[in-house]
Amino acid sequence: DVIDIRSLGKAGYFTYDPGFLATASCESAITFIDGDKGILLHRGYGIEELAEKSDYLEVCYLLLNGQFPDQEQSEKFHHVILHHTMIHEQLAKLYQGFRRDSHPMAIMCGVVGALSAFYHDSLDVTNETHREITAYRLISKMPTLAAMSYKYSNGQPFVYPDNSLSYAGNFLKMMFAVPCEEFKVNPVLERAMDKIFILHADHEQNASTSTVRLAGSSGANPFACIAAGIASLWGPAHGGANEACLNMLEEIGSVENIPEYIDKAKDKNDPFRLMGFGHRVYKNHDPRATVMRKACHEVLDDLNINDPLLDVAMELERIALEDPYFVEKKLYPNVDFYSGLVLRAMGIPKSMFTVIFAISRTIGWISHWKEMLDQPGLKIGRPRQLYTGEVGLKIDDVKNRS
Ligand code: ACO
Repeated sequence: DVIDIRSLGKAGYFTYDPGFLATASCESAITFIDGDKGILLHRGYGIEELAEKSDYLEVCYLLLNGQFPDQEQSEKFHHVILHHTMIHEQLAKLYQGFRRDSHPMAIMCGVVGALSAFYHDSLDVTNETHREITAYRLISKMPTLAAMSYKYSNGQPFVYPDNSLSYAGNFLKMMFAVPCEEFKVNPVLERAMDKIFILHADHEQNASTSTVRLAGSSGANPFACIAAGIASLWGPAHGGANEACLNMLEEIGSVENIPEYIDKAKDKNDPFRLMGFGHRVYKNHDPRATVMRKACHEVLDDLNINDPLLDVAMELERIALEDPYFVEKKLYPNVDFYSGLVLRAMGIPKSMFTVIFAISRTIGWISHWKEMLDQPGLKIGRPRQLYTGEVGLKIDDVKNRS
């Protein structure tokens, strides 16, 4: 049941819902989730079919525009995105200001926000054309900025974008090519990367998307808003979970250690949680996790990799799904449970996992930001609070304060 509380607000009442467990913050036609049934739709299309039959840029077009592109629109969109991948050379210099051992997500928070210092036309958020161009800029340039944050952290020269490649292929080349060596994109990795991008593209009002909407509701510029989204995504309860999940699988190490970790996760006095398990909205299987599990097996088979951590993950999933604690609390593996294993098989370092999530989710953030600004009557997001402090205190002379 939905109660529209706008009338209550006018009458001086407000709801108290920390964590937004039962509060819709907006209306949106982008993504639908039925958490009890494990359904995820983007603009009405199921995530399983999108991952199977579409490519990431088509999904971007769909999320942004509300419908699939026809042949001509698709070619034009691919061309525009794949030909705006370069960044200003001065922005490349900004990387030198970060410590060599910075986490790539720390660099991303800075450089994405700094785009607003380079594209002054994008600061005018009231102009529809500018909003559209900004969306294209962000989708195009995120892989470049992300790959540069990786190259910087390992001391290698930046690799410039190759606009003849696909979106995923270009990203892999910028990540892994080294000077003086020929680089050929592995089609298995290219398809897997594209699938990972699709599976993380949007997920309605998660913490980072809500952050972007809230920041954008004040009229803040889109690069600053996306930087805020990146900061929110970095938390281990959100996008940082795939990195944390792989750390956990490494720590568990082998299947015989699993019961000990299951017990830790159930112990209320232990802060440990099974990373990659549980979701605020899904009280059933996360459909993205199902697609990701299949992709994980395919990639490992295609690359002929025998990763013992996959055995740990599968056994952990099996035991947890039969354990009354996880069954009662409806805790299932989420998308991050298997994504770390796929990325590891692809040779992606752990520190880049959440950065890759940020590349993928940029289209979700920007689609929500644009949808919000396109709607008439935008109100600045301004939650209320329940004040729990003192009232009516008087200031003592400093000499009399104890
Ligand atoms: N391991 C053990 N217990 C868990 C886990 C877990 N992974 N997740 C939730 N629980 C328990 C909680 O202890 C709590 O128990 P209680 O009712 O006895 O106190 C109950 O399940 C409900 O948990 P909440 O934290 O209240 O649920 P919430 O909806 O606020 O949190 C979240 C969802 C943050 C995803 C949580 O399940 C979690 O921390 N999971 C691990 C991190 C993770 O995988 N995050 C990725 C999310 S998906 C994404 O961002 C793409």
